[in-house]
Amino acid sequence: MNKLVGITRNFSSSASLNAIKTVTVVGGGLMGSGIAQVTAQAGQNVYLIDTQKEQLEKAQKSIKNNLVRVAKKTFKDDAAKADSFVKESLNRIKMSTALEDGVNVDLVVEAIVEKLDAKQELFNKLDQLCPEHTILATNTSSMSVNEIGSRIKRKDRYGGLHFFNPVPVMRLLEVVKGEQISEETYQTLMTWGKSVGKTCITCKDTPGFIVNRLLGPYSAEAMRMYERGDASKEDIDIGMKLGAGFPMGPFELADYTGLDTNKYALHVMFKKTGDPVFRPIPLVDKMVTEGKLGIKSGEGFYKYNKSKV
Ligand code: NAI
Repeated sequence: MNKLVGITRNFSSSASLNAIKTVTVVGGGLMGSGIAQVTAQAGQNVYLIDTQKEQLEKAQKSIKNNLVRVAKKTFKDDAAKADSFVKESLNRIKMSTALEDGVNVDLVVEAIVEKLDAKQELFNKLDQLCPEHTILATNTSSMSVNEIGSRIKRKDRYGGLHFFNPVPVMRLLEVVKGEQISEETYQTLMTWGKSVGKTCITCKDTPGFIVNRLLGPYSAEAMRMYERGDASKEDIDIGMKLGAGFPMGPFELADYTGLDTNKYALHVMFKKTGDPVFRPIPLVDKMVTEGKLGIKSGEGFYKYNKSKV
């Protein structure tokens, strides 16, 4: 297996906190490729590591397409500027299937599969391989940040960086305080988040953090209303858009996020909090069993044959 895909040089690494110059993103899927893109767009060098070469190739393509879109919007009539923006941003991203290629950096953001043992194993490796000053962060959306990092030694240089999908578009970043995070690390993460164009908010390592903790009960109650026959899904969507100013209704959002993700998130929150507001929703379970997962499968609460019906 090749190591550095298209890489001929290594990045140098800064040795001080508060000045993140080089970043590694581990996991080149949906989230990791987006995090790598916004980091490169912000002028920072980034390694994107994934165990699957095909994932890196896919990430390369999607990052390039996204950058072209951003360049067109940003530089409008200046084709030369747009072109160099895309080229320079892409040049800042080095891809590899070997974790060792990305350990000599100031910050590592983990965005691999949502499995506790895989994440713990990765952080244990990173803890051993990275220089002392390197800050480690997880992008987990449903797990405990503390539990993921429970076996690492550098707990003062560890926390959560919870991005939102799609990363290049969504402006929010939740900076999650690990229980032993130092003030310096926390401030460095906040500064870095801002440097990649995000508005940062902070919370403790609490289930669902801020946004998903509040979105879960809202979304669940919308589905229960529909399940009970209280109102149609169309009217609930219109109601929340026109009455509450939300850009999408709860069913449109669920289709966009994926009903399997929705079901999993409810399951995790119910297990963690025991709060009946997160109890399983039979309608959603049935739809997932039938393969109605939302936009990605062509049907969820709505059908997606090019246009919504
Ligand atoms: P994904 O399935 O698209 O990507 C995961 C990638 O990690 C895959 O390319 C896989 O090959 C790679 N991978 C698995 N084990 C690895 C390892 N040990 N080393 C290197 N690469 C490895 O997943 P997605 O959606 O990007 O999610 C990643 C993380 O981001 C998860 O923790 C998830 O909870 C979190 N997240 C996801 C959001 C979403 O909307 N999908 C939103 C916010 C956070």
